Amino acid sequence: MFRNDHELPSFGRLEEKLHADVAVIGGGMAGLLTAFSLKNAGLRVVLLEENKLAGSVTARTTARISAQHGLFCERLIRDFGEHLARQYVSAQLHAVTQYRKLADALGVGYSVTEATSNVYTATNGPSLEGEYISALRLGAKAELRAVDGLPFPVREALCFPSQAKLEPLAFLAALLPSLTVYEHTPVRDVRAHVVICDSGVVEAEHIVVATRYPILERWGLYRLRLRQEQAFLLALSGAQRIDGWYLDADTRGWSLQQHGSELILGGGLHRCGTPCGDAFERLREQARLWFPEARETRIWSSQDCVTLDRVPYIGRYSAATPYLHVATGFGRWGMTNSMVAATLLTVEILGNHYPYADVFSPDRFFPSASIEAMVEGALYAVRGKAKRLYAAFECEASRIASGHAAIIRHHGRQYGVYRDEKGMLYAVSPFCPHRGCALEWNGAEKTWDCPCHGSRFDYTGRRLFHPAGTALKTLYEREI
Ligand SMILES: Cc1cc2nc3c(=O)[nH]c(=O)nc-3n(C[C@H](O)[C@H](O)[C@H](O)COP(=O)(O)OP(=O)(O)OC[C@H]3O[C@@H](n4cnc5c(N)ncnc54)[C@H](O)[C@@H]3O)c2cc1C
Ligand code: FES
Repeated sequence: MFRNDHELPSFGRLEEKLHADVAVIGGGMAGLLTAFSLKNAGLRVVLLEENKLAGSVTARTTARISAQHGLFCERLIRDFGEHLARQYVSAQLHAVTQYRKLADALGVGYSVTEATSNVYTATNGPSLEGEYISALRLGAKAELRAVDGLPFPVREALCFPSQAKLEPLAFLAALLPSLTVYEHTPVRDVRAHVVICDSGVVEAEHIVVATRYPILERWGLYRLRLRQEQAFLLALSGAQRIDGWYLDADTRGWSLQQHGSELILGGGLHRCGTPCGDAFERLREQARLWFPEARETRIWSSQDCVTLDRVPYIGRYSAATPYLHVATGFGRWGMTNSMVAATLLTVEILGNHYPYADVFSPDRFFPSASIEAMVEGALYAVRGKAKRLYAAFECEASRIASGHAAIIRHHGRQYGVYRDEKGMLYAVSPFCPHRGCALEWNGAEKTWDCPCHGSRFDYTGRRLFHPAGTALKTLYEREI
């Protein structure tokens, strides 16, 4: 959680009608970099942000600027073929270089520091030899090596040297002086070339949707092609230092990363809305085991969209809307992929050719890489809807203990009810306002989470993450 380190300036809301070459919707890393790139190309750009700039997932990132995205090279060659796999890796390697150059040009070279990326395998885990050979085939300068210096033994690690670590808010602050930005301006709809907000509109030749989860549901069927995954992070001071970062080759494993004087421990990756138990407590236990002398400084979680084949959708929003563009599905690799999005979309909007565009095309469909995830998504949707009918009522509201929640029935209707530490009850509709799936209680964070597409709400019903467009309906204590 990097909000504490730097603050970005504030901007007013849109309250007029504007004309622009491009309207960019969403002020996270993807939207800001894309707006900056388009502006640098000489276009008139307006950026519209629902809340505060970089206040959503970009504020919670671990900000590794890395061309190594877990175990991915063998998978890419198998699913996409060598030509497209090479495009993906080339685009990521290029993005790492672009960050360095841009930070230097903006006078914030200190916001990008060199670091080494490692993917490790447990002592009883599989060899990384195949991934190593594939990485070399795709043009990465990878090294396979033995590792010591971690608080646990590992079999080996695949290393990408010369990657980087970003201070996101320091870097983003340097992009802002040249941009036209409106905050607290949620986009409600897009009608042809007109972007509609509550008290203003922007008419633009092109529109970029960089809202992480695409907000326009009329086109592209993104809700059938995206899921959201959540992970948990804990920052420690006084822990032994490590060089760069280490990710477990098994995505359910642990990650370790040096961030300045702090060590960040990560884990608990799961599909949003599926049970994760007390993920924060598991992180703390692991931290106590490996770093008994260290002190916890922060703990937080975050989530990101993942596509069916785990490669982002960057390009035309749909075949029917050539003026609409999208950047989504970064799969927890949104730093380099935001840079790819900025470059690709600028080239596309200027009518030129981006050499690595094909692998990111939102139109693609590779059955062998996508069917399993598609079926899984459909099953969650069916189960989420069916649960409306057969949901078990766990207890009476009066029997819910402090700090706990349950589904109850009241006057023939279902409610998700949470009792806080002072005994106050908060009752909300347990159905997602997006497409009506039954919500699941997440005890670790005291949120109601949707297993269908990953919307999340706090116990008062406030929406925390899209795609749901509204808060949950609420019913207060006195009415129960
Ligand atoms: C635990 C975790 C760790 C990660 N670590 C890394 C890492 O080390 N390296 C890496 O490369 N990536 C990492 N990522 C991924 C990366 O953080 C994200 O992919 C990236 O921040 C997404 O940026 P974004 O701009 O797409 O989304 P966001 O930052 O979520 O920005 C989208 C913006 O759109 C706005 N918006 C939404 N709807 C509307 C609307 N209707 N109108 C106007 N605005 C709207 C939102 O308010 C938000 O500000 C991590 C992700 C997770 C979950
Ligand atoms: S039904 Fe889509 S996020 Fe809940």
